Amino acid sequence: MRFYAVAKQPRHFNHFYPAVPVVIGVEARGRVNFMPAVWNLGLSFDPPLFGVGVSPKRFTHGLLEEASAFGVTFHPFEQAGLVQRLGSLSGREVDKVAAFGLEVVRGRALDVPLLDGFYAAYELEKTDALATGDHTLFVGRVRGIWEDPDAFAGETLNPVRVRALLYYGRYRYGHPAPEVRELGEK
Ligand SMILES: Cc1cc2nc3c(=O)[nH]c(=O)nc-3n(C[C@H](O)[C@H](O)[C@H](O)COP(=O)(O)O)c2cc1C
Repeated sequence: MRFYAVAKQPRHFNHFYPAVPVVIGVEARGRVNFMPAVWNLGLSFDPPLFGVGVSPKRFTHGLLEEASAFGVTFHPFEQAGLVQRLGSLSGREVDKVAAFGLEVVRGRALDVPLLDGFYAAYELEKTDALATGDHTLFVGRVRGIWEDPDAFAGETLNPVRVRALLYYGRYRYGHPAPEVRELGEK
């Protein structure tokens, strides 16, 4: 075990990975754009709130500031290459939808773009944008949920059916093992 005190920035900030990245889909200024965000989390059940941490350096940030809604999609391990590509280019320089020939699914509860190929997705009405250090936490109220019924065993993801995408940092990807232990009362 090693310890080091942190005065400014840590040497790396990958200790809380692996984590599941979402792909944010947003439309504003006449542009549809997608970017992966591994800094994402559920924030509340009632009302259902979900947040994404986005750096102001991202093209997506400006779009999220203007838009009143956005989408997030969850993709399987098999789509790691696409997620990586979406996170390696900026919508400022290239129209990713055209460049990668992306299929866009339109939201049903809200007029938001969703990247096709997901096993689950949220349609989010923007409720807050909180500055947190060098990122902004965009909070959305869940207004629509898509889920592949084959992917979910009851209310949880079935890891035999879907290999969830895990991000380790430094552009490394993996997936969880298929074993699941059910502990505790149902
Ligand atoms: C797997 C993965 C996860 C990422 N997570 C985040 C994140 O949570 N927040 C963030 O601001 N950038 C994150 N990034 C970086 C952006 O996705 C990347 O800079 C992207 O090119 C921004 O696109 P845009 O300029 O079109 O918005 C991530 C990149 C990858 C590959």
